[in-house]
Amino acid sequence: MSKDNEEMVVTPWETRGKIDYDRLIQEFGTSRIDEKLLKRIYKITGEKHIMLERELFFSHRDIDWVLDEYEKGNKFVIYTGRGPSGGVHIGHMVPWIFTKWWQDKFDGTRLYFQLTNDEKFWFEPDLSIEKVRELTYENALDVIATGFEPENTYIIQDIEHIDLMYEIAIQVAKKITFSTARSVFGFENSMNIGGIFYPAIQAVPAFLHSWIYGKKTPCIIPCAIDQDPHWRTTRDVAEKLGYYKPASIQNKFLPGLQDASGKMSSSQEMSAVYTTDTPKKAKKKVMAAFTGGRDTADEQRKLGANPDICSVFKYYTFLFMPDDKELDNLEKQCRSGEILCGECKQILAPRMLEFLEKHQAAREEAKERIHEYSAARLRDDIRR
Ligand code: TRP
Repeated sequence: MSKDNEEMVVTPWETRGKIDYDRLIQEFGTSRIDEKLLKRIYKITGEKHIMLERELFFSHRDIDWVLDEYEKGNKFVIYTGRGPSGGVHIGHMVPWIFTKWWQDKFDGTRLYFQLTNDEKFWFEPDLSIEKVRELTYENALDVIATGFEPENTYIIQDIEHIDLMYEIAIQVAKKITFSTARSVFGFENSMNIGGIFYPAIQAVPAFLHSWIYGKKTPCIIPCAIDQDPHWRTTRDVAEKLGYYKPASIQNKFLPGLQDASGKMSSSQEMSAVYTTDTPKKAKKKVMAAFTGGRDTADEQRKLGANPDICSVFKYYTFLFMPDDKELDNLEKQCRSGEILCGECKQILAPRMLEFLEKHQAAREEAKERIHEYSAARLRDDIRR
């Protein structure tokens, strides 16, 4: 995975090098989520959220403007998505959990959830249509099991629901030149032309609500910061097509269990706990996780460990230890050498397993309900 001495590269399809989030804010031209914005958000939500407090979500575009509109009575919609290139692991779900909170707190705002099976078909050389279909279905179960309400959640499967999107996609595509796409996304000549067209498809859900209902509606996109290039081109064309520029709220990458520096990769089986892992397998992965510990117990008792580079500590921070006092205390024990990594993992394992158990039960139930979430329902709302 990423090595510290490599040059930083962050595009929607590739992340390399040591990630410098301040530099990303600067280079991408986004804004940091500051105290003032947090206060504004909390005034509406009525409660804090650890993923904001602990700066997992750290960057945004235009959230202040969307809140202005919201306070004037103009509702917004939420749009997020996932490329079904493999199974879903706990790291993937973290921003979905935040999205659900956001949806709930802003009175059941409508969510469009895009499963980009076309993207993964184009970008993964060995992925067949059959396989990507199967993954789309499996991933949809995980989305539903996150707890979204069917009344206001629309899961778009690109290949199956292209008829809902194509009219917007062709308009977007006409406004983006190859030279822009090449410089924003780093496309090379060897790329298949499906991939070159793809950004037009990812732009669509940002405008879909406005297009269907004939009313310009603000849109907030919760996403990992690597998706920002998409929103740059989407925002560029928005007003030309008569829509608002989409806003976004952006999160840092959640490390795998093997490497605390970069993005969690789905290709390394042991590096992540998948939503379908057995308890035994999940526990094994937790116990094998990369930490900031010392080589020997003696050394660690004397010198302490380093939670800043520890993947286990990241999982506590963003999901499994919401209590600030408990987290502070653990951090102190870790730095002072009072607690060893094995003991610390023994605390994480049961929390992870409890989460998995609940999720797997919800995932089973989702099988009966998948149609209730389908974007196919939107076909009835489109007036042509
Ligand atoms: N391209 C994203 C991925 O590979 C999937 C995606 C589509 C997405 N639309 C999105 C992610 C909107 C976040 C927000 O995972």
